[in-house]
Amino acid sequence: MNEMIAPRARLVASRSRDLAISAIKEMSIRSAQIPDAASLAWGLPSFRTPAPIRAAVAEALESDFSLGMYTLPGGLPEVCETVAAAHEYRTGVRVDAGKNVTITAGNMEGLNALFGVLVDPGDEVIVTDPGFVSHISQIRFNGGVPVFWKMHEGRGWEPDIAELPALIGPRTKAIVLVTPSNPTSSILSEATLRAVAKLARAHGVLVILDDPYSQFTYENRAQYFNLASLPEYADTIVYLFTFSKCYAMSGWRVGYMVMPAALRAEIVKVHDLTMICTPRISPLAAKAALEGDQSHLADFERTLDRRRHLICERLDRLGHVFQYIRPQGAYYVFPRVMITHDDDVAFAHRLLDEAQVTVTPGSAFGPAGKHHVRMAFCVEDDVINQAFDRMEAYFGT
Ligand SMILES: Cc1ncc(COP(=O)(O)O)c(C=O)c1O
Repeated sequence: MNEMIAPRARLVASRSRDLAISAIKEMSIRSAQIPDAASLAWGLPSFRTPAPIRAAVAEALESDFSLGMYTLPGGLPEVCETVAAAHEYRTGVRVDAGKNVTITAGNMEGLNALFGVLVDPGDEVIVTDPGFVSHISQIRFNGGVPVFWKMHEGRGWEPDIAELPALIGPRTKAIVLVTPSNPTSSILSEATLRAVAKLARAHGVLVILDDPYSQFTYENRAQYFNLASLPEYADTIVYLFTFSKCYAMSGWRVGYMVMPAALRAEIVKVHDLTMICTPRISPLAAKAALEGDQSHLADFERTLDRRRHLICERLDRLGHVFQYIRPQGAYYVFPRVMITHDDDVAFAHRLLDEAQVTVTPGSAFGPAGKHHVRMAFCVEDDVINQAFDRMEAYFGT
C-alpha cells in the first residue's frame, strides 16, 4: 500500500492532490455502477442536438476542406462575427468581433482560462454560496481563494447586497454570478445585479457572468436581467455563454466569451496553451445554431417546465423528507433534508445504495448547501417518476 502511495505523494502536485473530483461527477460515477439507478445528479438535458445544427455539420464535413485543421486560438473570424451579431441582438450591446470575442470549449474551459489569467496565488474570487461546485475548484486549482457570498434560503435564495462590500478586499479579482443559478435555480434581481456591477466597478474588480441557463426562465422571464446588456459596464464584465444546455450541445464543447479587449489578449495566450483552439467543427456547429431556427428553445423550455411541475408535485408528497424553494429557472431544485441524517454526503450515498436514487450532496456547492441535496429535473419524466416512486417506498409518504 505504502509503495503505491509514496510515488503518488512525491510526483503529484498538491494543487491536484488537494482537488476533489466534482461531487456531481462523483455521484454520477457511483450511479453508473449501480444497475438501474434513477439519477437526478447530472444537469445533462435529455435533448438531442437540433436537426438543423446536425445538418450544417454534416454539410461542413463534406464540403469544408479545412475542417480538420487548427483555427487561430481566439476562434474563426466568421464565427466571432456571428457571435458579435448574436450578442448585439440579445443584449443590445455592440462589440468588436476581433477584439472582444473569444470562442471557448464551453464555459468550463473559458472560466478556467479566465481564472488562469486573473488569479495570482492568494488572490480572492467571490462566488455565491451555494454556487456552482466547479467554480470553487477552478479558483483553488489556479491558486486562488473562493470567498463565499451567502444566498439566503429564507429570501428565496437571493443574496443580500449589503453583505457584499465587506467581502471585497485588496486581493479581490472578480465576482462570479450565475443567473438563473446552479444549484438553486433562483433568478437574481435586476437591482442586485446593478448594485453588484456598481460596486465591482468602484473597486476595480470584474463581474464574471457564467450563462448556461438564461433561456430557461418559465413564467419568470420578465424577472431575468442580463447585466451584459449595460454598455456602461463593458469594461467591468466578462460574459460567458455556452451552447451546452439550450442548444443541447454539451458534448460539442463550445461556448463564447465577450470581454474587455485587454483581457482577450491574455485569454488567447492561455487558451492556446491549453488546447490551441476549440475543435474546429464545434464553432461551426455553434455558428449554425446561432444563425438557424430557434424554435427548439421554446420546445425545450416547455418540456423542462412540465418536468419542473412534476418534480415539485412529487416533492410536495414527500414534505416530511424535503422542503424546497420553487425553482424560478434553470432545471435544478435544491431541497433541505428534513429527516434526521448525519450529513448530506452520507444521506446521498445511502439514498443511492439503499433506494437506487442519485442526487448530489448540497455541501459540495458551498457551506450554505449543507443539509441540502441538488436534484436535476432535465432528465426524462420517467426517471423523475421512478426516483420519487422509490423515495416514497423508502421513506414512506
Ligand atoms: C454554472 C455552470 N457553468 C458552467 C457549466 C458547464 O458549461 P460548459 O458545458 O459550457 O462547459 C455548467 C454545467 O452544468 C454550469 O451549471
